[in-house]
Amino acid sequence: MPQIIFLPHDELCPEGKVIEAESGVTVCDAALAHGIEIEHACEKSCACTTCHVIVREGFDSMEESDELEDDMLDKAWGLEPESRLSCQSVVADEDLVVEIPKYTINQVSERH
Ligand code: FES
Repeated sequence: MPQIIFLPHDELCPEGKVIEAESGVTVCDAALAHGIEIEHACEKSCACTTCHVIVREGFDSMEESDELEDDMLDKAWGLEPESRLSCQSVVADEDLVVEIPKYTINQVSERH
């Protein structure tokens, strides 16, 4: 079973976390199932960017993002080349190292 290593995030997993994930589940669902409350404002329908993550390792093991996901990602806070929407990224058979960005677009707009 592939592992997902979540890097420390101040609020969601301050110490970081290593979880086992079955191939075929989304990174978002795997995180939620293990108590990492990644935001998912649109209920995982690829219509927001609150579930944005950066895949530091294993990015290429996953199926590529589609156009809709890319369009949404363009609006994400802190976009990087290895950014994905976690509700659209399906775990394949390799371990992943995932960083949850410090802010989501919801939080940014609340602060300004
Ligand atoms: S939860 Fe909205 S795009 Fe993933």
